Amino acid sequence: MLHLLWIAALLLPPLTESYTITLQPTDNLTIHIKRATNTPSQPCNICAPKCNALSLAISRGQKVDYTFDCSTPEKYFIMEVNRTIDCSSGMCPLNISLQPTNLHGLNRTFSWNILTSKNNGLIFGFSGPWLTQIDPSSQCPDHIRFKISTYVHDSSYSIGTFCRNGTITRIKVQERGVIALSLPWNLAIKDPGISITNRSSIKSLSIVESTFSQQSTVTLLSANYPDPFPTNEQMTWKFNLPENHAAAVQFLNHTSPMCVKKEENVHYYLPKPALHKLTDSQPANILQNFNLSLENCEVDTQKTAHPGLSLKFNITVQRSQGDQLYALDLTKEKGLVVHIKKRFTGRTFTPVCLICKAPMVCDSELVLEGGRYYKISFLCEQLSSLMVTAEKVIECWDLKTCNSRMPLTIPQTLIDFPVQLESYSWKLIAPENISNEIVSKSVYLQQDVVDKPCNAAAVGFTYDIFSSTNKDTLKVGAFCPNGSIEKIQLRDNVTITLKTPRNGNPAKLLTHDLHVSFVSFIKEVSIFTVSPKTEDMIYLETPNYESGLPDYASASWSINLTKKQSAKLKFGKDKMDISCEKGSAYVNIMEQKDGSPETVRREDQQLPSQLNIYSTFWVNISNCKPWTGTKKLKLQFCITFNQISPGEIKPSRPG
Ligand SMILES: *[C@@H]1O[C@H](CO)[C@@H](O)[C@H](O)[C@H]1NC(C)=O
Ligand SMILES: *[C@@H]1O[C@H](CO)[C@@H](O)[C@H](O)[C@H]1NC(C)=O
Ligand SMILES: *[C@@H]1O[C@H](CO)[C@@H](O)[C@H](O)[C@H]1NC(C)=O
Ligand SMILES: *[C@@H]1O[C@H](CO)[C@@H](O)[C@H](O)[C@H]1NC(C)=O
Ligand SMILES: *[C@@H]1O[C@H](CO)[C@@H](O)[C@H](O)[C@H]1NC(C)=O
Ligand SMILES: *[C@@H]1O[C@H](CO)[C@@H](O)[C@H](O)[C@H]1NC(C)=O
Ligand SMILES: *[C@@H]1O[C@H](CO)[C@@H](O)[C@H](O)[C@H]1NC(C)=O
Ligand SMILES: *[C@@H]1O[C@H](CO)[C@@H](O)[C@H](O)[C@H]1NC(C)=O
Ligand SMILES: *[C@@H]1O[C@H](CO)[C@@H](O)[C@H](O)[C@H]1NC(C)=O
Ligand SMILES: *[C@@H]1O[C@H](CO)[C@@H](O)[C@H](O)[C@H]1NC(C)=O
Ligand SMILES: *[C@@H]1O[C@H](CO)[C@@H](O)[C@H](O)[C@H]1NC(C)=O
Ligand SMILES: *[C@@H]1O[C@H](CO)[C@@H](O)[C@H](O)[C@H]1NC(C)=O
Repeated sequence: MLHLLWIAALLLPPLTESYTITLQPTDNLTIHIKRATNTPSQPCNICAPKCNALSLAISRGQKVDYTFDCSTPEKYFIMEVNRTIDCSSGMCPLNISLQPTNLHGLNRTFSWNILTSKNNGLIFGFSGPWLTQIDPSSQCPDHIRFKISTYVHDSSYSIGTFCRNGTITRIKVQERGVIALSLPWNLAIKDPGISITNRSSIKSLSIVESTFSQQSTVTLLSANYPDPFPTNEQMTWKFNLPENHAAAVQFLNHTSPMCVKKEENVHYYLPKPALHKLTDSQPANILQNFNLSLENCEVDTQKTAHPGLSLKFNITVQRSQGDQLYALDLTKEKGLVVHIKKRFTGRTFTPVCLICKAPMVCDSELVLEGGRYYKISFLCEQLSSLMVTAEKVIECWDLKTCNSRMPLTIPQTLIDFPVQLESYSWKLIAPENISNEIVSKSVYLQQDVVDKPCNAAAVGFTYDIFSSTNKDTLKVGAFCPNGSIEKIQLRDNVTITLKTPRNGNPAKLLTHDLHVSFVSFIKEVSIFTVSPKTEDMIYLETPNYESGLPDYASASWSINLTKKQSAKLKFGKDKMDISCEKGSAYVNIMEQKDGSPETVRREDQQLPSQLNIYSTFWVNISNCKPWTGTKKLKLQFCITFNQISPGEIKPSRPG
């Protein structure tokens, strides 16, 4: 393994001994030992041989013996080893070696100043495990740091600061480059793993090449970051991806220059050319090797206070589904809005999960309007981390033209889609004098109550029904199939939200069957029609049970009994348990036969402990205005049914 050779790090003993550095006449290098900035205030000198020097320079052909007059010179001194390599004199290609090899005991920086002929390029290659870019103000975990710079008209520009272990395999510059490798005082490496090759012009400031061998996210910075990128220059990043992987580009931060000519741009070869602005969203789900170039304009150099061009971006490479496309046919779904988005997950790190509505045009969230045909692809490892929600608005402004009963359908394309349909909402909107009716002929609804909760996993979905005015919204209740509620009439605007359980079976959505119609105004918040299909006990509760029935609001239930049935009605508590500031609250129970007596209870009276009822009847509950801050009206009741044996005479209910 290359990197094993390369890393071979060894700890060195502390030194008080003397050193000898010998440079051959052929060693085209100089060594400077000098005081570091911010050193401790106690004195420490170099003795060569007198102990009075603060710096020491050793050039080619020299032999110097030196020592220090303190025991921890590494706290005071640093060493610079500078070498010039002129490729135009035929020295390249070349593998750089760390010479002289016996330098240690001080933090040291090896700088290679590498030249080639005018208009030629230089390639710096790094052996595995390659390099990773860091912010210039950051340190590397192993304190081994590379700084690479180049020149434009004799001004130095940093290409970047790098640590070992990353994706960057090669960096190309034009004409002249400096590689500075900094090593900590107690560490020596044998081979810096850098090769230098000269080649023809690279036609840009620099080219940084990355090769990904596995899934990862890396951060890259424009040359000279965070300072301005040089005027009129461009730099390129090239990316090599492993098989069956895709990349996403995400710009994290940028500043824009003040241009006098041209414009700053980002030019992609994906490998098809594509021009993006810095402010655009950047391509994702890139399935091939690609490159991107940052192009500066001719900058207005008078505007020195301006930040100039800079860019910080992430590249994420992860396994991909390739270019598989999924159809979403919403052509016949006018008024439908579909959202595809991330589920909330508590995890701190999630790989990129993007939804693409065109090749490489991806986002973490997508809103699709009905009336069109979409081809969706994903850059996402787990589609289960995404969900689909849909919302359809159904309006009625004139009862004469819209009172026919309509089915609430779910487009098959959403059921077949590989991302789970989390919820589907229908919003029924009408003016204040029009009410709504929800009918479920085939499934009959069960109310989701604590005593008899809906089993969403078993039935495949539940419905939340909300009623709203321009002022507020209340949750009428949660419901699921296989109950006794045949019809719900609601006075105000209604939202019906079908919700599916996590990892639910989409095939169960086929049993969903609700119809709605707009009807003439009702004065109650809601009227339920309950037609027991079985003898099972039925549980019901007042609308908005969690927070209570609104002030003065009323609700009704019509309970159908067949000729052969009788019913027993029980309330969940023995009193309404509220105290009214204005008005009174009532519970009324009355058979729907002419002349039937009525059971009426006010909020200060006991509720009947049990009522036996023999024909179809009403339950009405109407609220007062309770004192603010006191309990709200919330009632639950249950009904059990009995078959009346043949010949038994149905009595009229005693009051
Ligand atoms: C030597 O390098 C280390 C980090 O690698 C740093 O903390 C220390 O201050 C440096 N010493 C000097 C004298 O600059
Ligand atoms: C060695 O090279 C570095 C980087 O180019 C430079 O900053 C430093 O001044 C040079 N030192 C000497 C003594 O020339
Ligand atoms: C030796 O270094 C000097 C500058 O320090 C440079 O001008 C010269 O080209 C170098 N010679 C070789 C052979 O690289
Ligand atoms: C540089 O090192 C590599 C790998 O160790 C080797 O294949 C190559 O031949 C060397 N090149 C030169 C010019 O020494
Ligand atoms: C390189 O970095 C990766 C994570 O980015 C880590 O898993 C691996 O151990 C590192 N390798 C070395 C040699 O430091
Ligand atoms: C590298 O430099 C040498 C010496 O100047 C030259 O002969 C060679 O053609 C250069 N190679 C390239 C690719 O430019
Ligand atoms: C960008 O990449 C770095 C790793 O280099 C990662 O820590 C960071 O979370 C990424 N930022 C975003 C916004 O993805
Ligand atoms: C973005 O850049 C601005 C200006 O360079 C800097 O102040 C800010 O901290 C940067 N933000 C991030 C997240 O890097
Ligand atoms: C970028 O990619 C395109 C298409 O593959 C290629 O023509 C171009 O030379 C590349 N640019 C660089 C700087 O490598
Ligand atoms: C509702 O009110 C509007 C205007 O006030 C009226 O034109 C319409 O006939 C009313 N509709 C019903 C069903 O009462
Ligand atoms: C229902 O919504 C429509 C449209 O926003 C509004 O005009 C109407 O007043 C709402 N109905 C009620 C009862 O608030
Ligand atoms: C329940 O009663 C209503 C009228 O109150 C009627 O329209 C409906 O058909 C009845 N349902 C059943 C199942 O008998």
